[in-house]
Amino acid sequence: MSSLPNDSIPLLTEDIITGDPSLKGVLPRDFAYAASTASFQIEGGWDADGKGPGIWDVYMHDNNLANGDEAVSSYHLWREDIKLLKLYGVNTYRFSISWPRVKPLGGKDDPVNEKGIEYYSNLVDALLAEGITPFVTIFHWDTPYELQKRYGEFECPDQLVYDFVAYARLLFERLGDRVRNWITINEPVIYEMFHVMAIKADRWTDDMAIAYTKSLLLAHARTVDLYRREFQPTQGGQIGITLNIDFVVPIDDSPAAIEAAQDAIDHMLGQFADPIYHGHFPESMYKRFDRTKLDFAPEEWAVVKGSNDFFGLNHYSTFYATGEVGSLEGASARDRALGLQVRVAEKDGVPIGRRGERGHPYDVSWGFRLLLQYLDKRYLKPSGHQLYVTENGYAIEGETKLATEDAVQDKARQSYYAGYIREAVLARTEDGIDIAGYMAWSLMDNLEWLQGYNSRFGITCVDRSSPDFTRTPKESAFMLKRVFNYLIAKE
Ligand code: BGC
Repeated sequence: MSSLPNDSIPLLTEDIITGDPSLKGVLPRDFAYAASTASFQIEGGWDADGKGPGIWDVYMHDNNLANGDEAVSSYHLWREDIKLLKLYGVNTYRFSISWPRVKPLGGKDDPVNEKGIEYYSNLVDALLAEGITPFVTIFHWDTPYELQKRYGEFECPDQLVYDFVAYARLLFERLGDRVRNWITINEPVIYEMFHVMAIKADRWTDDMAIAYTKSLLLAHARTVDLYRREFQPTQGGQIGITLNIDFVVPIDDSPAAIEAAQDAIDHMLGQFADPIYHGHFPESMYKRFDRTKLDFAPEEWAVVKGSNDFFGLNHYSTFYATGEVGSLEGASARDRALGLQVRVAEKDGVPIGRRGERGHPYDVSWGFRLLLQYLDKRYLKPSGHQLYVTENGYAIEGETKLATEDAVQDKARQSYYAGYIREAVLARTEDGIDIAGYMAWSLMDNLEWLQGYNSRFGITCVDRSSPDFTRTPKESAFMLKRVFNYLIAKE
């Protein structure tokens, strides 16, 4: 907990953008302005119309946790959700496909659930009819449970990668005539983290960490390879991975803090981005893991290196690295997954920014700009790639306790968006960083994984106690609309 309360930090408003004449119309007409979601977090209908159980369904049922059985019922209310998108003026919608909905058992030779395909096909058609571009995540963590039973899912790259690529092929075949933007995998490091912390916490080893990293990278890379060879030439879309990073800056100019900050970034981001952009793991990963086990075979490196058409970034917050590094023994499961470098959210008693729900995230817009500059130098400029901010958003501390009429007045979320969007726009106009899209997380309050429904990132309130899961727009939804209406050029 920070020693200074949140209300000592001044709130920003959209005026820092819409009151600045130098920002009017600075984004190109084709800039993707979106809201984003993920299947497991919003759909519900967990066993509807032939869907198979996913690993989260089983984990949450077994452990008696808030689950996705109904989530916020987007499986049934998707038409209403499209109306919200329309109301909010977005030109793009990022959503993900549930693997066990379209292939209940998941494996390459397992049957297709036509009803599941139909659901997504209808969704895509309806979006296009409204002039909204679908930006589709192939995998946002809902692995078919059957693959966990068969071979431990991502623990076993040999089998997983084939099953994953066959699943992706199905999507390209059935939806690729209409979907032109594909994200292979959302946040591989957080998927891994949830296995260390929860799903496989009782038996996690370094060898499993290596297996997860490698199969996530290979599943991504072989999917991109397939798309490029068999679909891109005729369908003409683009494909990339979405990586996440809470940025880390040294707390002071000591060499230890500087090194720890870089190592933390390597662990969260570099372990996936460096292989894809540079064809090797970061040096700190080779120090942390057995090199002979971590490295890919030459044939695999040839597929991994260069396997991105654009850089997808999820970003929420920034922390300070103190320079201390914890030891592996006794490290918490979370630190094992995200790196052992100690990170804090305050310096000399001053919080780094406004604290969100349970400290996720802190509002640190200046960190976003520094991160974009870092990414540009290391990945974007050398490759000529564009960057899409595929997630960015804020959970207000205490919002879950508010009644809808109070929750919609989400000033702290608007302050977060104003600050972060301004920094992104300045990164484009002043630093020349090629940012092609911005996707707010999330279209609506939803199932925040292990936090259940106790952390709200939505720009729409959802009343889960009402029989029709009533959706009520928050002020931030309209604030975003005004901001992007101002920023995106009319011609
Ligand atoms: C994930 C989302 C999640 C969000 C907020 C990202 O890590 O992609 O699924 O809800 O952050 O925590």
